[in-house]
Amino acid sequence: MKTQVCIIGGGPSGLLLSQLLHLKGIDTVLLERQSREYVLSRIRAGVLEHGFAELMREAQCGERMDREGEIHEGVFIAHERGMDRIDLHKHTGGSSVIVYGQTELTRDLYDARAKMKGNVIHNVEDVKLCDLTAASPYVTYRDGDKVIRVDCDYIVGADGFHGVSRKAIPKDILREYERLYPFGWLGVLSQTRPVSPELIYAKHERGFALCSLRSQVLSRYYIQVPLTDTVEDWSDDAFWTELKKRLPADVAARLVTGLSIEKSIAPLRSFVAEPMSYGRLYLAGDAAHIVPPTGARGLNSAASDIYYLYHAMLDHYQKGDDGGLKGYSQKALARVWKAQRFSCWMTTMLHRFPANIPYDDKLQDTELQYLLSSQVAQQSMAENYVGLPF
Ligand code: APR
Ligand code: PHB
Repeated sequence: MKTQVCIIGGGPSGLLLSQLLHLKGIDTVLLERQSREYVLSRIRAGVLEHGFAELMREAQCGERMDREGEIHEGVFIAHERGMDRIDLHKHTGGSSVIVYGQTELTRDLYDARAKMKGNVIHNVEDVKLCDLTAASPYVTYRDGDKVIRVDCDYIVGADGFHGVSRKAIPKDILREYERLYPFGWLGVLSQTRPVSPELIYAKHERGFALCSLRSQVLSRYYIQVPLTDTVEDWSDDAFWTELKKRLPADVAARLVTGLSIEKSIAPLRSFVAEPMSYGRLYLAGDAAHIVPPTGARGLNSAASDIYYLYHAMLDHYQKGDDGGLKGYSQKALARVWKAQRFSCWMTTMLHRFPANIPYDDKLQDTELQYLLSSQVAQQSMAENYVGLPF
C-alpha cells in the first residue's frame, strides 16, 4: 500500500488530521489498533475550546457539535466559604467553551471519514515504524497472518500515551518529563439532570470534586480518590454521599442522584516527550503529552498539534515549503508547555495533597483566595481555560 501520510491511531487527533488533509486532497491511511465500537465506548472529558471547535468546522465535522453542544461562558469554583463564578466571557472579551462529549466528537469524525471513504483500518496488530530518517519511511502491521506494508512520505504518531510511535524515537534523543499525582479521579456518568448549568470545580478538605455534564439529561461527576481505591470500593450510594459532602450545602441539597451508567478511576499524570518529531515521524496529542484533567486541556492540547501539523503539511504539499515541518516540534511544544503549566496549577490549587505540611495547605488556600479576589488573576485563568491562541 502507498500513501502520502500514514497516521497511527484513530482517536480524535488522528481522525481530525486525516479528515483535514483529505479535504485538501492529501492522501492518508489511518491505522487503529481497536475496533470503532471499542474506541467509541471510551468516556473522556467534554470541554472544547474555541480553536478546537473551529478546526472541527474546518474539517466539516462541526454541525452536530454546534447543534447539540452547550456554550458555557463561565465556571464555578466552590470552596469552604461558598462558591464563586469565573466569568470566562467577560475576562476574555467574549470567548467561551463548548461542552460536547469527546465520545460524540469522535463519532462525528468517524462518520465524516466513512462518508468521504477515508482509508481507516481497524484491528491492526503489531504496528512497526521503519526507516524514519530515510527519504521514504514505511509502516508495517499484521492483519491475521499477513504482514502489510504502508509506504509513505510521512508518519504521524497519534496513538495516545500507550502507543508505539513515541517509542520509535531513539532513547538517546527522546527526553521525557513526568509528574505523577498521589491520587486519581473516580468518575460517574448518570442519566440525571445536572446539578448546575455550568461546571463546578470544588476544593474541599476531604478532596476535590467536579460537577460536569454532557447534556441536560446526562451528568458527569468526579471525586478525588486515593490511588489504592478501586471501582468496586465505591457503590453508587457511597459515591453520591461523598460527592455531597464535598459540595456547598445548597448545591448538595439539589443534587439529583441516580444509577451510574459508567464508573471508572483514572490516575492523574503530567507528561511531555521532547522532541515531538524525529526524521519523518511527527507525534501529536496524547502520544507526546498528557495533562491531568483539572483544566480540561487534554483534547485542546492535542488540537494545537493538529493545527500546526496540518498547516505544515499543506505548506509542504501545496507550496514546497518545509519550514512548518522543520519547526513543528518547537512550535507545538511551546504551547504544550503552557497547557501543562495551567493544568498543573489548577490541579495543585484544588486537590488535597496527603503529604502536604500545614504551611503548604496555607499557601494553597491563599492561592485560591488570591484568585477569587483578583480580577487580574481571574483574567489569567479565563484566558487559559478558553484556550491560548495557536
Ligand atoms: N497501533 C495503532 N493504534 C494504536 C496503537 C498502535 N500500536 N496504540 C494505540 N492506538 C490507538 C488507540 O487505540 C487510540 O484509539 O491510538 C488512539 C489514540 O487515541 P487517544 O488516546 O484518544 O489520543 P488522541 O487522539 O491524541 O486524543 C487526545 O485528549 O482528552 C484527551 O486523553 C484524551 O483521548 C484524548 C486526547
Ligand atoms: C468532563 O466533563 O468529563 C470534564 C470536564 C472538565 C474537566 C474535566 C473533565 O476539567
